[in-house]
Amino acid sequence: MPNHDLPNPVQVRDMLGRPLRDLRISLTDHCNFRCVYCMPKAMFGTRYRFVDHAGLLTFPEIERLVRLFAGLGVGKLRLTGGEPLLRPRIEDLIASLAAIPGIEDIAVTTNGSLLTAAKARALKGAGLARITISLDSLRGETYEAMNDVGFPVAKVLAAIGHAAEAGLQVKLNMVVRRGLNDDDILPMAEHFRHTPHVLRFIEYMDVGNMNGWQPQDVVPSAEIIARIGERWPLEPLEPSRYGEVASRYVYADGAGEIGFVSSVSQPFCRTCTRARLSPEGTLYTCLFGTSGKDLRALMRDGAGDDEIIAALGAAWGSREDRYSEIRSLLRARGGGQKVEMFHIGG
Ligand code: GTP
Ligand code: 5AD
Ligand code: SF4
Ligand code: SF4
Repeated sequence: MPNHDLPNPVQVRDMLGRPLRDLRISLTDHCNFRCVYCMPKAMFGTRYRFVDHAGLLTFPEIERLVRLFAGLGVGKLRLTGGEPLLRPRIEDLIASLAAIPGIEDIAVTTNGSLLTAAKARALKGAGLARITISLDSLRGETYEAMNDVGFPVAKVLAAIGHAAEAGLQVKLNMVVRRGLNDDDILPMAEHFRHTPHVLRFIEYMDVGNMNGWQPQDVVPSAEIIARIGERWPLEPLEPSRYGEVASRYVYADGAGEIGFVSSVSQPFCRTCTRARLSPEGTLYTCLFGTSGKDLRALMRDGAGDDEIIAALGAAWGSREDRYSEIRSLLRARGGGQKVEMFHIGG
């Protein structure tokens, strides 16, 4: 019998011995931004078919799946998109997920455009402890060119303030693309020094099939660390947990912490404990997956909990993914149609 009602979960492991610990849930593939590294405008004319309302997992469906995932070892959730704050009353979902036994940590990744003071308070009130806001530049021109909808940077800076005032811990994600915003590395670092907010520099990745990624567009973390360290010496920190995505550093002068996500130059597949749920309920075992397991169909066809648990266990148990480690090999072979980042979540 599966023991999903018991406090101690069954810890499933994949083919490479990696435990399942995190679930990243994309709440919608819609987004009000068109970031050039994620949803380049030219590729998303009126012809692109986003998931419609009826196709989205409902909040009760998501809650049910999270309860079953918790029984298999998941304790950490990240709500993403697309833009997750486009889902009305996301705070209600957060409140019910926070009450599920075994769920210890819930975070949201957002572009910040819809994060008003009231929304930040509602999220905090629902039990959210931390939020990650994407911010690629402090310069209006560059920021607007990167979100490609002309969204003003001042509003995101205000959103960061609202989050902090509401008592949320804040991280900032900056995707660095050579020639676009690498000049912003030092100004961004300077802006967030001496604040409690943790800025993370993300290597630009070849997610999906549409962003025209070229290896030469990536600024490797080692280069960013060297550039920042020359100005403000850095000291590495130990990972705070198994499988942590970002390498963490502190400024030697006590100005706080920063992080680097180096999935291109230093892949971290070996310790990847993350499963991903798409807005329409397909389970992917890798950010670069080409196919997944349709959990919505199972649920809407009336499958019982045991049947769904068996499907989750089978999907994880047969997992061999390590795309970032074997990127060159897979790209040389032509890959396959990968799932898009805005679909499966950042
Ligand atoms: P916390 O440590 O819980 O705050 O989260 P995190 O470090 O996982 O950070 P976040 O979820 O914000 O992820 C940061 C970025 O890392 C994402 O936006 C992706 O660009 C990248 N990333 C996250 N998970 C993966 C992964 O499994 N594989 C790859 N290749 N990249 C990832
Ligand atoms: N490369 C790296 N990170 C990306 N994200 C989206 N597209 C990419 C990409 N091509 C991540 C960013 C952003 C989050 C929503 O998704 O971290 O902040
Ligand atoms: Fe939207 Fe985030 Fe993708 Fe930008 S990176 S287009 S904000 S989903
Ligand atoms: Fe995990 Fe796939 Fe990312 Fe590797 S590429 S860390 S297996 S999600």
